[in-house]
Amino acid sequence: MSVIVAVTGKGGVGKSTMAACLIRSAIEGGLAPVLAVDADPNSTLAPMLGQKVTATISEIRDEVLKEKANVTGISKERILEMKLQECMVEAKGFDLLTMGHPEGPTCYCYVNTLLRGALSTMRANYKMTLVDNEAGMEHLSRMNTDNIDCMVFVTEPTISSTWAVKRTYDLSLGLPVEVRRKVLVWNKIRAHGIPENVREPLADCQFDEVIEVPMDENMELLSIGTRDVFSLPLPGPVNRLLDACGLRA
Ligand SMILES: Nc1ncnc2c1ncn2[C@@H]1O[C@H](COP(=O)(O)OP(=O)(O)OP(=O)(O)O)[C@@H](O)[C@H]1O
Ligand SMILES: [Mg+2]
Repeated sequence: MSVIVAVTGKGGVGKSTMAACLIRSAIEGGLAPVLAVDADPNSTLAPMLGQKVTATISEIRDEVLKEKANVTGISKERILEMKLQECMVEAKGFDLLTMGHPEGPTCYCYVNTLLRGALSTMRANYKMTLVDNEAGMEHLSRMNTDNIDCMVFVTEPTISSTWAVKRTYDLSLGLPVEVRRKVLVWNKIRAHGIPENVREPLADCQFDEVIEVPMDENMELLSIGTRDVFSLPLPGPVNRLLDACGLRA
């Protein structure tokens, strides 16, 4: 079994935080090894997992383009595979790949096609692949030739982040792959709860599970970089995330 989970939502709502928590729960729940893919150009997943990034996929794209396969006698596919290994941070229970900055003026279609193939093959070595996305779905549609087992939509109780979920939800309906399960996470809930008008944009959306995570000091600590997700108590509802995603080992 190799399942794929994608975390999406507006900037700053807590995607990487929830992704890090989910990786911890997956490892503790017997779903190791996990392949964590940080697909946000503003990469922050690594420190939350207690890791440092050595190289990103964006960097190796350029290097692969520059390599002259016919001179070295090694195919571009093989060169890419070797370079992907250089980007891989290996840790206990999970490996981490960081996408890095989006593309510039160079055309990377060719390398991206190779990349899609390589990632798809690589995924077979893991019980779970978790993709921490930017708000758009670009990387997701690029990287994925397979169906998505669960998409986790993260939102704060604000109108703008709820509308962002609505847009991504609508987009997910038109993806060329099946999204098997959809989970909504209301994050950073304060004592006054979630106002009705903030819920309204999502009234027609059908989520398999909805989880409400309170504003939590430990979750705040995660972004400071002094603590990682494995050394903090998680707020109760976060522990339900793995089940909500339909992912018990
Ligand atoms: N439940 C929570 N309680 C308190 N703070 C939280 C909670 N969830 C996330 N945070 C904080 O909110 C901030 C944004 O979180 P995070 O980096 O996970 O968001 P993101 O959606 O990945 O952001 P970006 O779009 O920039 O990648 C961080 O400072 C994080 O510590
Ligand atoms: Mg993030």
